[in-house]
Amino acid sequence: MRTNQPQTIYLSEYKVPAYLVDHVDLRFELFEDGARVHSTLSVRRNPESAEAGAPLFLHGDSLKLESVALNGSVLAAGDFEDRGDALIVPSVPEQFELQVVTWIEPQNNTRLEGLYKSSGMFCTQCEAEGFRCITFYPDRPDVMARFRTRIEADKGAYPVLLSNGNSVAQGELENGRHFVTWEDPFPKPAYLFALVAGDLVEKKNTFTTCSGRNIDLRMYVEPRNAQKCDFAMDALKRSMRWDEDVYGREYDLDIFMIVAVDDFNMGAMENKGLNIFNSSCVLASQDTATDATFQRIEAIVAHEYFHNWSGNRVTCRDWFQLSLKEGFTVFRDSQFSADMGSPTVKRIEDVTLLRTAQFAEDAGPMAHPVRPASYMEISNFYTLTIYEKGAEVVRMIHNLLGDELFRKGSDLYFERHDGQAVTTDDFVKAMEDASGRDLSQFRLWYEQAGTPVVSVEDDYDADKGVYGLTIRQNIPDTPGQTGKKPQHIPFAMGLLDSKGQPLPLNISAGEQDGPLERVLELTEAEHRFEFHGLAERPVPSLLRDFSAPVRVQYPWSREQLLFLMSHDPDGFNRWDAGQRLAVDVIQSLVGTPEQAEVEPRLADAYRKLLNDASLDQALVAKMLLLPSEAYLVELAEQADVPAIHAARERVLKHLAQELKDDLLACYQRNREQGDYQLGPDAIARRSLCNTALGWLMSIDDERARELALEQFRSADNMTDRLGALRALVNSGFAADREQALESFYQRFSDDPQVVELWFSVQASSGQAGQLPHILQLLEHPAFDWKNPNKVRSVVGVFAGQNLAAFHNPDGSGYQFLAGQVCRLDDSNPQIASRLVTPLTRWRKFAPAYSSQMKAALEGIRDKDNLSRDLYEVVHKSLA
Ligand code: PHE
Ligand code: ZN
Repeated sequence: MRTNQPQTIYLSEYKVPAYLVDHVDLRFELFEDGARVHSTLSVRRNPESAEAGAPLFLHGDSLKLESVALNGSVLAAGDFEDRGDALIVPSVPEQFELQVVTWIEPQNNTRLEGLYKSSGMFCTQCEAEGFRCITFYPDRPDVMARFRTRIEADKGAYPVLLSNGNSVAQGELENGRHFVTWEDPFPKPAYLFALVAGDLVEKKNTFTTCSGRNIDLRMYVEPRNAQKCDFAMDALKRSMRWDEDVYGREYDLDIFMIVAVDDFNMGAMENKGLNIFNSSCVLASQDTATDATFQRIEAIVAHEYFHNWSGNRVTCRDWFQLSLKEGFTVFRDSQFSADMGSPTVKRIEDVTLLRTAQFAEDAGPMAHPVRPASYMEISNFYTLTIYEKGAEVVRMIHNLLGDELFRKGSDLYFERHDGQAVTTDDFVKAMEDASGRDLSQFRLWYEQAGTPVVSVEDDYDADKGVYGLTIRQNIPDTPGQTGKKPQHIPFAMGLLDSKGQPLPLNISAGEQDGPLERVLELTEAEHRFEFHGLAERPVPSLLRDFSAPVRVQYPWSREQLLFLMSHDPDGFNRWDAGQRLAVDVIQSLVGTPEQAEVEPRLADAYRKLLNDASLDQALVAKMLLLPSEAYLVELAEQADVPAIHAARERVLKHLAQELKDDLLACYQRNREQGDYQLGPDAIARRSLCNTALGWLMSIDDERARELALEQFRSADNMTDRLGALRALVNSGFAADREQALESFYQRFSDDPQVVELWFSVQASSGQAGQLPHILQLLEHPAFDWKNPNKVRSVVGVFAGQNLAAFHNPDGSGYQFLAGQVCRLDDSNPQIASRLVTPLTRWRKFAPAYSSQMKAALEGIRDKDNLSRDLYEVVHKSLA
């Protein structure tokens, strides 16, 4: 091992800051060969800190210090220490001004943290700890200051100069340069600072708030993207209205800006008044964006906007509290998306992600609580657990309190903590105080890692007419946590009679008209519930709407699942029954001979779905999607990926064969007539067509081939064009595949977002995405190692979605990924550390695979100059 071990940071060691910053005055001189940053901090000792006379400690990273002055006098070399990762001034007065000048090189910043360049423009990314790459500063979220920012740059190359807040001055300078000064009246932590300078076009709009204030809305994009802003702008206005209506939150500044940049490590960033987006999460047009992209954009625009309250006005005390803003904001954006479209479909999508990826994280070596107790590199904790499980935890509070009390709780939270940096515990306390409910046991959801397993047993006493449920919970051990306590689990359920009618849930012998649905509150390791007055043994509908992020175990028979698929009044559970049935059928075929029979009732059930026009077509579209390989792997004990892949393919082809005519009819019926629409119905129809096409093409059906070619040629939107391309690429029609890929690329080669789709269709394809072809894609002129989206769309998609190719028994996929991760670690450690995830799950796989995965990880561990990001993930995975 050649790297010094990075330090572990513990929540238990939290101390309030010794110094506070009231005001920050920044002046940026931007040049082609670097940037000079002048910072003036108004600092005072924190009266709440016990460390009287402590040295002033400012974080720094990759900075060249030019000068330090205290109250106007330049400090001599002996009066401060420039440690590289910190600037320390041993003796300072109670209150003072500190002036620091640093020199940085944005043009060489490939980590994309701090100030960097992306296709010719300057932009910043400061969360979590990027501000210290700009200047020396107490870079922690509980230090909140008012910022004033003056940006100076060449006027020709950078006509647009943006920062947080309102612009208060601008003017011309010598040598063709100009400046703009911005002032943000709201105190904020440094991670919410932003700056943009570029040659951008401006898209204008306005919004009138509930109190009648007019807000200027602005989008800034490169000129070539001017036509791809409308959808995000509308989504922004819908978000602003929704946050007023549902949470009573009004926007606070006079201007709200969104900027699109091509090179970005994450999806988007909620900088105060100046949100910066990954181009792929904000730019869209009918021709270039799929339905999934439109939905993602709407959700992310809303997410970042909602952060203005849940994140900016009330922020995190320290990074252990990250889920305070992320979990709550994801919950808010999911409520918003549910309101804008189909709540059931949105729930299905969220749960699919949670069960596939978050459950896997919770069962892997990086498992951590929603509020972690320690970390080495905070960038590694922007996880599905913090975001998605964190949102589920807030959702459970919502379900326990109900709409009204939850709103009372959120009002209290915002009122009590406005302008503060607080903890997840403060959030729960506000919910408790507003509702009068005791959430002390509920808090364990924040402290204990791991997915609870809820196992259900039932019994029926025909003589007494009593049905019993025995429900046990168990939370598996995770790294560093064993012997966990039972959690407070809201468990929504109902019972159905043999005709599919919901039964009243009478929990005492005397009760008659009990409710048709109950939320059982599980608080003990074991509970028993009895339901009275039942003339026959009912079929249970468990964990309706996925009321808690747990694994349910119950010995469903295939009859019961088929029955629930068509009768459960809970749409989510209808879908879930179908998923469980398909999982059961596929699992039972893993490792069996090619001729083994596929459960015939599966095809019958799908036929019913395909032909019953009275069903909600959006739900049908979801029900027809087979469980993904990633989900099947997550469910397996010791996954043999090629065997799982083969079993799933057999089921898919069997269904395509059996349902040929029904699929064709479904395709014809739903094929779009008339104008392109973006509503839930039209989206469902496109999804049905593309699913039907994909299934038929998997058996190389000639009629489907013609339909696919025709759809590819005549599509007036990207969902259909890409659907046809994907079907062709995944089929055995090799010549068509090549031709389609070629013509698609020719048509869209100047649009990076579409080229990313083009890469990912190939990288995810069992037919086209074998390693030799992946290596070719990396040599393609449109591929760019410096652009995270490109890396993700080839390397990330191959390792994360093309499981059979990645898990090639010869280990070549693992070696490939390890090599790319090492190469990326030198330029962009955050991306390297995310990309390595599939290898970290090595314990999950059958021995022949896991030993090779482990060896690949060990290769990474032995690399020179391992970043802190990768160090933490690789070492924890091998521990
Ligand atoms: N805070 C951002 C969000 O959730 C995500 C992000 C984190 C972006 C870190 C950049 C860096 O919306
Ligand atoms: Zn967020």
